[in-house]
Amino acid sequence: MAAAAAAAACLFVAINLAFLSVSGNMFQDSKRTFSIDYNNNCFLKDGKTFQYISGSIHYSRIPRAYWRDRLLKMYMTGLNAIQVYVPWNFHESTQGVYSFTGDRDLVHFLDLANKTGLLVILRPGPYICAEWEMGGLPAWLLKKPNIILRSADTDYLQAVSNWLAVLLPKLKPWLYINGGNIITVQVENEYGSYFACDHNYMRTLRTLFRFFLGENAVLFTVDGNTDKEMSCGSLEGLYATVDFGTDTNITEAFKRQRRFEPRGPLVNSEFYTGWLDYWGDPHAMVRIDKLIRGLTEMLVMGANVNMYMFEGGTNFGYWNGADHDTRYRSVVTSYDYDAPLSEAGDPTEKLMAIREVIKMFRDVPSGPMPPATPKFAYGFVTLKKLDNISSLLSTISPRGPVKSLYPLTFEELKQYYGYMLYRTTLPRDLSEPTPLISPLNGVHDRAYVSVNGVYQGLLERDIALVINVTGKQGDTVDILVENMGRVNFGSKINDYKGILNNLILGQDVLTDWNIYPLDIDGAIARGWPHSNSLKPKSHIKKDELVGPTFYMGTFPPNGLNWDTFLKLHEWTKGQVWINGVNLGRYWPARGPQQTLYVPGPLISPTQINNITVLELERAPTHLRALFMDRPLLNATASKS
Ligand SMILES: *[C@@H]1O[C@H](CO)[C@@H](O)[C@H](O)[C@H]1NC(C)=O
Ligand SMILES: *[C@@H]1O[C@H](CO)[C@@H](O)[C@H](O)[C@H]1NC(C)=O
Ligand SMILES: *[C@@H]1O[C@H](CO)[C@@H](O)[C@H](O)[C@H]1NC(C)=O
Ligand SMILES: *[C@@H]1O[C@H](CO)[C@@H](O)[C@H](O)[C@H]1NC(C)=O
Ligand SMILES: *[C@@H]1O[C@H](CO)[C@@H](O)[C@H](O)[C@H]1NC(C)=O
Ligand SMILES: *[C@@H]1O[C@H](CO)[C@@H](O)[C@H](O)[C@H]1NC(C)=O
Repeated sequence: MAAAAAAAACLFVAINLAFLSVSGNMFQDSKRTFSIDYNNNCFLKDGKTFQYISGSIHYSRIPRAYWRDRLLKMYMTGLNAIQVYVPWNFHESTQGVYSFTGDRDLVHFLDLANKTGLLVILRPGPYICAEWEMGGLPAWLLKKPNIILRSADTDYLQAVSNWLAVLLPKLKPWLYINGGNIITVQVENEYGSYFACDHNYMRTLRTLFRFFLGENAVLFTVDGNTDKEMSCGSLEGLYATVDFGTDTNITEAFKRQRRFEPRGPLVNSEFYTGWLDYWGDPHAMVRIDKLIRGLTEMLVMGANVNMYMFEGGTNFGYWNGADHDTRYRSVVTSYDYDAPLSEAGDPTEKLMAIREVIKMFRDVPSGPMPPATPKFAYGFVTLKKLDNISSLLSTISPRGPVKSLYPLTFEELKQYYGYMLYRTTLPRDLSEPTPLISPLNGVHDRAYVSVNGVYQGLLERDIALVINVTGKQGDTVDILVENMGRVNFGSKINDYKGILNNLILGQDVLTDWNIYPLDIDGAIARGWPHSNSLKPKSHIKKDELVGPTFYMGTFPPNGLNWDTFLKLHEWTKGQVWINGVNLGRYWPARGPQQTLYVPGPLISPTQINNITVLELERAPTHLRALFMDRPLLNATASKS
């Protein structure tokens, strides 16, 4: 068998090294080393052959309180390494203002991994893709109108070097060779699949990484396994690796890596355990038997494998990305990914199967796999209507409106995420239904239109470019625009948000806007809405439940703060906060995701719990939300 021969080669390497270390003993002991052994096609750790079996986990998608739990479960599966992305925009969402505390405390995460016994394959970007908003790039880069992201564009490079000058010095002490657990560091990410193919950019990154991390750090690149991707993405001095899933011929894929790295370890940097979901598309899954077959085959060959994802987690808040192939498609809130650890961090059948495979190749830690965290069905909570978004502007738009003849983008107003409200007046009487048109597909991404308090419907990028409106001259037109997540992959990553082109109403161009940047999260962080301010529930008519409106509810503490799943059954689309934390978007009308993961630590066991919902289209008359004890990720409620 060809595979057995490859394994024997690796064994031979280990024996060879044992001879070598006799003479090298004196200085080998005290020194932590990690390098690539080009002679023997292996990694070399402390002078011994080393093969990693790794899994991807993103700290930005898991609450800090659960980091330890997830890492322990990965360790107990038998992994010896984890692979971690650093999302730049998570740490520098405002230019020059850095955050590395709480859920952003990367060093704490590295420390927990080290204490758990896991090595780290670090992927600090600056671009990461990852189905993360704008592939991890901060949206403030877009303030230069024609910036060429991921290229040697001077403004882009200036921002990148400022960021790396902050990030990389924090990581240098965490390199394995310096006493930490980071064994390898990726430069950029699948750069070969980006149109720019700018080797000067990659050379500049190489210089920066070398400058901040030193000559001995093992730097690498990852690319999809085609010749074009490999030639644009790889660069001398950066070890070239490939990524591929269960449907790829493994022999062929590693042959391709060999064309670019004739010697050195075989590495699949992303072996897909599952896949992501988009709103409105079918739920994705990867079968266990295929996964197991591929993993076994690669490990027999002596290859190094990272499973992407091992624990997917959640796109909380506004952090989901989007793709743009034939049209804009936004990624759902859950990043469960059908991974071996579920979104809620629970071991699955897939995980147990992987553990059995690993057992054939190395000892897995003894002792039981930690159990799933407990789940609780808190049951129904009835919400109350607070008010429509138009009547709440003094609270949620403290900056007040910006006046402009033509509409401005989110980026121009430095409101990078969430929602903005565009207000103008009807230029003439429209007694007949009159088309309101979004020319050039300029609504990014969804616009909810009201005229004088009457909800008219919505415009949606690539899907609904015209609606009819009626009203009288001088009536107020309120258009709430939602940023559904910036494109994270491909050539369309300069994804500006808001109303990008003038809207046309009948024959008129709409002008003279008052544009309200909305800081909903700020208002909620400051304690709004207070449950005392709720009016007693009176009978609500159906037409009072349409258009962008806030609802709130409370549920009493019951001594438990267990994980739960929130189902907004028969609600349409919106955003939800629990005790001030932005859980993310819900959209049961599109699916496939039906429940939102609510991590236990968000729930108070002792105080009244608060839930705030911004429903954008239509709330159900029952106004109920349901907390269940299990997720529902593959269903579509009804066509709407
Ligand atoms: C990482 O853990 C090892 C023990 O496994 C310890 O020797 C080392 O000091 C730790 N590194 C850091 C940076 O804490
Ligand atoms: C993969 O490709 C090789 C030729 O490179 C072929 O011999 C082998 O049968 C293929 N494997 C599978 C599983 O199709
Ligand atoms: C999702 O549900 C649909 C409808 O029940 C079913 O046909 C489909 O096979 C499911 N998809 C997966 C990946 O389980
Ligand atoms: C919002 O509600 C107020 C009453 O609270 C009403 O006067 C107004 O027309 C509504 N506006 C919209 C856009 O729904
Ligand atoms: C707008 O109204 C006209 C006239 O009633 C109708 O023919 C047309 O289909 C409507 N368009 C949309 C997008 O609803
Ligand atoms: C819920 O909101 C009330 C005020 O409306 C506040 O007193 C309480 O602390 C909040 N609960 C939690 C768990 O934050």
